[in-house]
Amino acid sequence: HGDFSQKIDYVFKIVLIGDSAVGKSQLLARFSRNEFSLDSKATIGVEFQTKTMVIDHKNVKAQIWDTAGQERYRAVTSAYYRGAVGAMLVYDITKRQSFDHIARWLEELRGHADNNIVIMLIGNKSDLDSQRDVSTEDAKEFAEREGLFFMETSALEATNVEPAFLTILTEIY
Ligand code: GTP
Ligand code: MG
Repeated sequence: HGDFSQKIDYVFKIVLIGDSAVGKSQLLARFSRNEFSLDSKATIGVEFQTKTMVIDHKNVKAQIWDTAGQERYRAVTSAYYRGAVGAMLVYDITKRQSFDHIARWLEELRGHADNNIVIMLIGNKSDLDSQRDVSTEDAKEFAEREGLFFMETSALEATNVEPAFLTILTEIY
């Protein structure tokens, strides 16, 4: 019968981090609203979106936080990571530098977040395979060494976006 008013069983905070322009905000737009924009503006400060999913017959609300990759626009670091149970560490497969910086993002994350936070490495813009600058093998190897989950995604083509969030939520749960 008609009462779908949601009883939320769990709320999980997930943070997005990574260099500017890797596609963090568009991954979030794709996941939360099934939207995508090519002329996305750089994030200033912090934004968040929520999406409720059913996992194992429970209503799990993902509260996903997004901040600027650019240092001068970033949110207060400690507040951003506080209470996070999942993190997506995003690079752009066409920008080697954004992958090389992942080690630094990981260091910041491990310095501020809870010890048992679930971390997923995301190689975004898989639709631009002809401009690829980071091999899947390199990323996979890095992820294995650091104990991270790993997926390549395209916010533009909506490839692997929901599976990535679902994997992290299921793992947290
Ligand atoms: P900051 O807010 O500055 O940290 O950047 P961001 O990581 O949030 O990047 P954003 O989501 O704003 O995307 C940057 C640019 O990349 C925009 O022009 C997006 O349209 C584009 N973009 C994002 N995801 C994809 C993707 O999967 N494929 C392609 N081809 N372009 C993408
Ligand atoms: Mg952004």
